[in-house]
Amino acid sequence: MEEDRIYELVNELWMKRQADSKFVPGETVIKIGEATYDNEEINAMFKAILDGWFAMGKYGKEFESNLSNFIGQKYCALTNSGSSANLLAIESLIKTGKITDGDEVIVNPITFPTTFRPLVNNGIKPVFVDVDLKTLNFDEEKLKDSVGDKTKMILAQHTMGIPNNMKLIMDIAEEKNLVVMEDCCDALGSKYDGKNVGSFGDVSTFSFYVPHHITMGEGGALVTNELEIMKHARAMRDGGVWQWCDKCNDFVDTRSCPHKLLSIYEGMPEDTHRNFSFHTFGYKVRPMEFQAAMGLVQMRKLPDFTKRRKDNFEKLVNGISSLGDYFIFCSGPENSDVNWFGFPFIIKDGTPFSRLELIEWLEKHKIEPRPILAGNILKHKAAKEFENGFRVAGEMKNSDKILRDGLFLGVHPGIDDERINFIIDTFERFIKTRR
Ligand SMILES: Cc1ncc(COP(=O)(O)O)c(C=O)c1O
Repeated sequence: MEEDRIYELVNELWMKRQADSKFVPGETVIKIGEATYDNEEINAMFKAILDGWFAMGKYGKEFESNLSNFIGQKYCALTNSGSSANLLAIESLIKTGKITDGDEVIVNPITFPTTFRPLVNNGIKPVFVDVDLKTLNFDEEKLKDSVGDKTKMILAQHTMGIPNNMKLIMDIAEEKNLVVMEDCCDALGSKYDGKNVGSFGDVSTFSFYVPHHITMGEGGALVTNELEIMKHARAMRDGGVWQWCDKCNDFVDTRSCPHKLLSIYEGMPEDTHRNFSFHTFGYKVRPMEFQAAMGLVQMRKLPDFTKRRKDNFEKLVNGISSLGDYFIFCSGPENSDVNWFGFPFIIKDGTPFSRLELIEWLEKHKIEPRPILAGNILKHKAAKEFENGFRVAGEMKNSDKILRDGLFLGVHPGIDDERINFIIDTFERFIKTRR
């Protein structure tokens, strides 16, 4: 086939690139995250492009069923980002009457703005609860104390891949009749009690942006066991068009559904096309088909990626902790299995060096460090804009410490032993000069 020539050329190009790429310590940048991919992903994307339907289609649908099976929730909606998935998740919970204007939702302050912004937009108050320095997730005693009369939901974000104590959260939710949403954007493949994160909540979200556990460049998804949540999520994702057909008793392709010209809304002409019959005034936040094709290949590689992330994390903790007592290292709660997003650590008080000195040293040696998400997001300029829209439950001592002294490095599968040893060696040389 003519098409095969393209695939062969890609394979050749890839082999050549591999042969040319070499790690040069102190010159090659060790990034906090990058896409780990090869000719297989590129060819899968070419194939999807050559199919000629560029918008989300059969590959997107296949990815949705793949992800929902993997996580263990019945339904999945693929989106163009984790942020869009959070937007749809929260607004679907509103549409299904599970949370509403005036309610409060407990959230983690070490976060990303798009995790809680849709709450504020809808008159729902995020209540920030301080975190534990080791898990970067809720301080468990503070979490228990912060549930009040107005609390309707716990938004459990699995920070840096570290699962929350889901037993505690599900017990509180059951006792107080709360909704649970999981932000798993940084935690695909992490487990709690042998189950994937994302399988506990009423709705859970994922991100497939470049540094994440799998990537399609940009991308995201939400999963749920509840059909009503998914009906609303898909409608909002697709501009506001209801994708569910009562007659087919399934989500349908609005072009091929035999009932596409049966108006589903009172007052509309009976022959209105379903694609122009708006259930809600929604958004348009789907990815493109070639992205889903890349995602499908990446999903197959996830077990291998997971192993490499975990190995890299272990090697860094062992290597850097042997250099002295300067850092707090993170770990998951009992019964958890962490698929690390990165290697987070916090510089202890009273060490003979500052965070800035360490950042400058690492950058000089081409090792990229990053803050741990926002640190305490309430300290950012943007928080002023929303001051009346949120509540702070007590002191934010640990979140402030993470804002001041937290950092993370990459553990992505593109980091091999040579790079890991160079990172450890660079820390060793730094510490020697400060002691
Ligand atoms: C915890 C968390 N939630 C949501 C997001 C948003 O994901 P995206 O960048 O795909 O919009 C991020 C971004 O990395 C994140 O770290």
